[in-house]
This record gives sequence, structure tokens and C-alpha cells, in this order.
Amino acid sequence: MKKVDVLLGLQWGDEGKGKIVDVLTPNYNVIARFQGGPNAGHTLEFEGIKHVLHTIPSGIFRKNAINVVGNGVVIDPIIFKREIDALDNLKVDVSLTLKISKKAHLILPSHRLLDAASETAKGKGKIGSTLKGIGPTYMDKTGRNGLRVGDILGVDFKEKYAFLKQKHEQMLSFYGAEGVSAEMESEWFESLATLQRFELIDSEQYLNNSLKEGKSMLAEGAQGSLLDIDFGSYPFVTSSNTVCAGACTGLGVAPNKIGNVIGIFKAYCTRVGSGPFPTELFDESGDKLCDIGREYGSTTGRKRRCGWLDLPALKYAIMINGVTELNMMKTDVLDTFDTIKICTQYNVNGEITDQLPFDHSQEVKPIYTELKGWNTDLTKLSNDDTLPNEVLDYIAFIEKETGVPITVVSVGPDREQTLTRDVSLSASV
Ligand code: GDP
Ligand code: IMO
Ligand code: MG
Repeated sequence: MKKVDVLLGLQWGDEGKGKIVDVLTPNYNVIARFQGGPNAGHTLEFEGIKHVLHTIPSGIFRKNAINVVGNGVVIDPIIFKREIDALDNLKVDVSLTLKISKKAHLILPSHRLLDAASETAKGKGKIGSTLKGIGPTYMDKTGRNGLRVGDILGVDFKEKYAFLKQKHEQMLSFYGAEGVSAEMESEWFESLATLQRFELIDSEQYLNNSLKEGKSMLAEGAQGSLLDIDFGSYPFVTSSNTVCAGACTGLGVAPNKIGNVIGIFKAYCTRVGSGPFPTELFDESGDKLCDIGREYGSTTGRKRRCGWLDLPALKYAIMINGVTELNMMKTDVLDTFDTIKICTQYNVNGEITDQLPFDHSQEVKPIYTELKGWNTDLTKLSNDDTLPNEVLDYIAFIEKETGVPITVVSVGPDREQTLTRDVSLSASV
């Protein structure tokens, strides 16, 4: 029986998951998103066009694969409709290749309002949420109040909606916030028709049957391990399990069905929103990473905070996820740096450690190793070219520290700008 490979982000999101899922899709029969919702923005580029997906799995542009939105995902029908409209405009027909779990939870307009009200009430301590209603929707899921995609088909759907909305309006009035407008509500109800154009399935059955039939499967994560509800920098996290275990609960596949775990990381670090970021740069190097890497959010357009690669954080994410191979993204962004720094340990109040403290208010100073930059344009390289020695040194350093091979080196946003590596050459093997 086939196993499910899992692809996920090892940092604070936006590592380039969308691009790699698109690159790998020709090798798989099924691509399945397992958590998160429209807080995600997954970008893919090919033939000169850039596409940003929020809810729909990133395998959707390849004709060979079925794409499944799993039970662990939360769906805003309005955003989903916009994504489908964009695909319709491009004449990409997904009517037979996209399937949606009946157990996925719905984001209501009032969830979005609650997200905003909760953030405003937090003041300076705000999370920096994307304000897509993610937290309130998962709260209703675990609080056993949520509405699921399958509920749309029930005769009492409008009653269930009204009951939940009433609860939300009470909460909104507690915050002193406005309730849902008639326009918002009618747009939401109209957009449900788009969801119903697709096959609404018992995705756990579908996926397990597909595995039994010998189909190959890739689970696509959203956000990153350091935003995980349990293992991220709480409370500055998202509201789902972004780590590998989330693929089991978010798809209904058993732990012993997990195959390779592909961990995606940027050759440096970025974070959008609030929360600790030990290697964050506030100098020219930080601005340079932001400019060259075009570090502005795919979902919100916000400027991303930038810093050097953080190995203690990367090793932690590798441990929690059981990563079997690493993909290093945006390597080209470092092309013009004379020196590249990598954080190998932290100094926390005078103590040298490689663990982030539980209490984020403690001062964490990164301890760096410096490596020589390559000062070469990597963006035009193909698999037949050899990487400059300095890039190979950078790769070998990371592989040695983490003990995991880097199988892909990404050198640009396009599908084609993806170099695959022979694992037997890796320092960790
Ligand atoms: P995701 O959320 O993990 O899918 O990542 P995002 O799409 O939010 O952010 C990654 C950004 O980097 C997108 O704009 C990609 O087009 C871009 N990108 C991906 N890989 C590379 C790369 O190797 N080099 C460069 N320069 N850009 C890349
Ligand atoms: P992808 O899948 C980067 C961040 C937000 C905020 C925190 C909580 O594109 O990598 P939420 O909206 O979930 O309540 O926000 O998490 N965040 C992301 N940052 N990439 C994402 O997704 C993110 N999804 C949420 O900025 O700090
Ligand atoms: Mg993103």
C-alpha cells in the first residue's frame, strides 16, 4: 500500500510550499490540503504568469492529479468563489479534479468580524492575524458549534447558520463591534453555490481508498511549523496543527501511512505578523533581503520581517515533523551578499542554548557563524550546471548541522528554477 508524502513549511510560513507542490505534482495522483484556510497564500509561477491560491491545493494546474481540500481545512466560500472565478477566467477546468471534504468547517462573515474585534481588543499584544476568521472558526470547531461543508446540503442549514450567527452577534456586541451587514451575508450565501459545483466527499474514505488502490499522494501543509498551535511561538501562532501530525488529523490518514516528510525552508528567515524572531534584522541586510526577496505577504500584502537562517529553530521543526528531506528555497536571494550569517545557537540571559525559552519576553541573542557568499547569479542555472563552491559549502553546513539531506535548491519563483540534487552527494548521508 502506498504512503502519503507530506510537504510542509519549517519556518513561519511563506517558505515556497506552493511552488514545490506544483513542481512535484506530476509525481502524484492526489494532492490534499490538510489544515489552515485562506490565511494561506501559495504562489506558483509558470509560463510568465503568477498564481496565488488560498484554499485550493497547489496541484490544481496539472492535469494528472486530483486535488482534495481535507477535513482539517477551514473554507470561506467567498474567497473560494474568487479562486474558482480566477481559474474559470484562465479556462482552467477543475470541475472533475477538485473535491472538497464534507467535514471541512465553514468560515462565516461573523467569524471574520470576530477575528478583527479580538485583534483590536488585544491592542499592542495583537497576533497580527490575517483577519480571515481562522481563529474564531477553529474555536467554533473545537467548541462544537461549527458549521461544516456537508451541512450546506441539510434542510435545516439556514437555521443552523442563524443560531451560530446569533451567538456571534452577542460576542461582537461584547467587543462593541458592528454585526454582519445584509450585503456580506447575501454574498456569502450566493457563494455557497460555487462550493456546490464540486463533489463534496467523505475525504477520509476517498483518500484511504485511493491509497489502497495504489495511488500516490502528497499532503500540502499551510503556514509553517513555528506557527503551529502547539509548537509555535504561542500565542503568536495560527489556530491549527501545521506540523506533520496535522496531516493525520486533517486528512484522516493513520500515522503509519505517512511516507516522506519534505520540509521546505528559505535560505534565510521571514515572519509576517507579531511574535518572537531571534535572527530578525533591522539593518541594511534586512532591507536587502526584503527587497530582493520581494518579501510582501501573498495574502495581505504586508511587509515581511526578514533575518538570517535560524538553525536551532530549523532543527526543532525537523524534530517535531520527522523531516526526511529538506528543500532550500529562495537561495538566489542571497546571490549578492559577500558574507552570509547562520545562527547556530542562542544566548538567553547569558546562557548558551539551542532552545527558545518558554517565556518570549526573555532576551534571546543569536550566535552566528559566518560563511562566504557566492556572488553569482543562480537564477539562470539548470540541473546540468554545477553550483558554486560557496553554495555547496552553505548546503553542506546545513546538512551537517541538521542531519537531513537537501534534495532541492530553488533559485527563482518559476517552476523551471528548481535544481534537484543527488542525495548521495549530501553531507548528511
Ligand atoms: P508559500 O505560502 O509557502 O506557498 O509561499 P508564498 O507563495 O507565500 O511565498 C513565497 C514567495 O517566494 C512567492 O512569491 C514565490 O513566487 C517566491 N519564490 C518561491 N521560490 C522562490 C525562489 O527560489 N526564489 C525566489 N526569488 N522567489 C521564490
Ligand atoms: P502560508 O500558507 C505566513 C500568520 C499571520 C499571523 C499568525 C496568525 O502562505 O505560508 P491567522 O490569520 O492564522 O490568525 O494569523 O500567522 N500567518 C501566516 N504567515 N504565511 C501564512 O500562510 C500564514 N498564515 C497565517 O501573519 O502572524
Ligand atoms: Mg504564503
